[in-house]
Amino acid sequence: MIFTVAIDGPAAAGKGTISRAVAGRFGLRHLDTGLLYRAVGVKGGDPAQAARQLTPEDLDRDDLRTLEAGQAASRVAAIPEVRAALVDFQRRFARSEGGAVLDGRDIGTVICPEAEVKLYVTASAQVRAHRRWLEVGGDKARVLAEVQDRDARDMGRADAPLRAAAEAVVIDTSELGIDEAVAAACAVVAGRLAKGP
Ligand code: CDP
Repeated sequence: MIFTVAIDGPAAAGKGTISRAVAGRFGLRHLDTGLLYRAVGVKGGDPAQAARQLTPEDLDRDDLRTLEAGQAASRVAAIPEVRAALVDFQRRFARSEGGAVLDGRDIGTVICPEAEVKLYVTASAQVRAHRRWLEVGGDKARVLAEVQDRDARDMGRADAPLRAAAEAVVIDTSELGIDEAVAAACAVVAGRLAKGP
């Protein structure tokens, strides 16, 4: 079965939690594509070369989830050569046998426009910053500024800017708990699977 669930949306909207839950529930593989950009961002040196030479060990570093890594990721993610170097791997993963969930910024728009399910998971900047702050701690105003900074860069870049695909189902998690958000996503996937892969 070839079946792709594309989950896009801004920082800390809940994509990761929802993606893992959807993958687990339907037995699909999961790729957090943000990790690829984070790994390129923290690797240093020439970003395009880092993207071309990314190794599994690069994705295993324990400093990929920091605010700094998020900022570095969104800076290198605006470089077309970096994005180009990561396309094939993501496309192969998306269309691999058995089905896959990919979460990121451009999965439904650029990486896999043919995805069977497209979700756009979002929430207000304040809610997202609060969630990120619960994860990373520190100065709350700085966390909000980081989220807004990254939103502006991700939505404003020329190459593969963050936006909802025309046919994406939008899930606003501002006022949803994790279980409700996961249930909303699973309902969309189950509905599409019922029609056959
Ligand atoms: O976890 P969070 O939503 O904060 O971020 P992430 O998904 O790990 O992505 C980190 C950064 O990588 C984003 O701010 C984007 O600039 C970039 N990214 C991208 O450009 N395209 C993707 N498919 C995934 C991430």
